[in-house]
Amino acid sequence: MKTLIINIKELLQVRNTNITKVSGKDMAHLPILNNAWLLIIDDLIADFGTMDTCPAQDDCEVIDASGRTVLPTWCDSHTHLVYAGNRVQEFVDRINGLSYEEIFNRGGGILNSAKKLNETSEDDIYEQSKQRLEEVMKQGTGAVEIKSGYGLTVEGELKMLRVIQRLKKEYPVAIKATFLGAHAFPAEYKENHSGYIDLIVNEMLPKIAEEKLADYIDAFLETGYFSIDETKRIMEAGKKYGLQAKIHVNQFTAISGIEACVKYDALSVDHLEVVTDEDIKALQNSNTMPVALPTCSFFISIPYTPARKMIEAGLPLALATDFNPGTTPSGNMNLVVATACIKMKMTPEEAINAATINGAYAMGISDTHGSITKGKKANIIITQPVTSYYQLPYAFGSNLIETVFIEGKAI
Ligand code: NIG
Ligand code: FE
Repeated sequence: MKTLIINIKELLQVRNTNITKVSGKDMAHLPILNNAWLLIIDDLIADFGTMDTCPAQDDCEVIDASGRTVLPTWCDSHTHLVYAGNRVQEFVDRINGLSYEEIFNRGGGILNSAKKLNETSEDDIYEQSKQRLEEVMKQGTGAVEIKSGYGLTVEGELKMLRVIQRLKKEYPVAIKATFLGAHAFPAEYKENHSGYIDLIVNEMLPKIAEEKLADYIDAFLETGYFSIDETKRIMEAGKKYGLQAKIHVNQFTAISGIEACVKYDALSVDHLEVVTDEDIKALQNSNTMPVALPTCSFFISIPYTPARKMIEAGLPLALATDFNPGTTPSGNMNLVVATACIKMKMTPEEAINAATINGAYAMGISDTHGSITKGKKANIIITQPVTSYYQLPYAFGSNLIETVFIEGKAI
């Protein structure tokens, strides 16, 4: 099947050479073709160019994108979109003055979601989760990483990962699964941390590996959750099964966790609301992608990742949603991009690079996703008529997306 999109006002993120990420000053550059065409054959981007070189239109479906921007779909490299129920009561409790930490210490937070998850059937979790996946696809997400971490029991974690596999099978979006058994210590292991880590290492991981349920491994490296040494044990164990680390770190406190993650060759370090100069040094010249989650900062009123400082230090940066029931009940990447521009002072070019090519890198798929490149997946967004792509973050909260193509098909 052939689809030819013509008269594209601006075709964004055109990369002829297959770069895997952009860093520092290069993030300010977003390659654009004005007055362009794009040819899709089956599930792939076959070719593109400016309208003066437009190919014959006889054997393909033609879409006229006059006045519209075309860009690659968002790559959301950090979500927890498989979960049961919601946490609306905690949302209201926080409005009334309780902190995220206080709620957790009362047995709420992650443990509240874990209780619900373990009480819900796999089919029911699948039905709830697929609605969220369908919603984010319509919002322009064409690739998504999904974590476990609300099971915290062998059965619960396996159940979540099986739901992720089912979503992978049923939907055309690229999905990467991350095992996050080390999300929080269950109440019965509060005083026996090594016992819970033994359970992760000796029982959960072998089963997950046997069923090939995960691509990556994660831990919540944070004061009151998993220490550096505990996280190292998790990363080490993951490595034995070929699971590279993507770690939650520096959300509330900076305890030199980033350095440890870089040493273990983590693919990404995520959150980074609190970042020290030492953290930045550790990331310089590494292969680890820092990932910011600005709508998490927005929702629970914590600092925003210091993007300017990091980009000026030459680092790359990716943007993701963190879609989860506690700290970010939204999977809308358009809002993430807008929030990054408005609150983190990222330019639209930097934010779009961070949400496409760098997001793809942070989930290990930048050879197939994240840019308009011949041979990559035909995952594209066609906007409504706009003045320019600046309007995407400017009109925050508006839906400016007209059509989303995933693997060559309009959804
Ligand atoms: O990324 N910080 C750790 N995990 C999630 C929140 C989990 C929850 O509250 O359910 C996050 O923000
Ligand atoms: Fe998260």
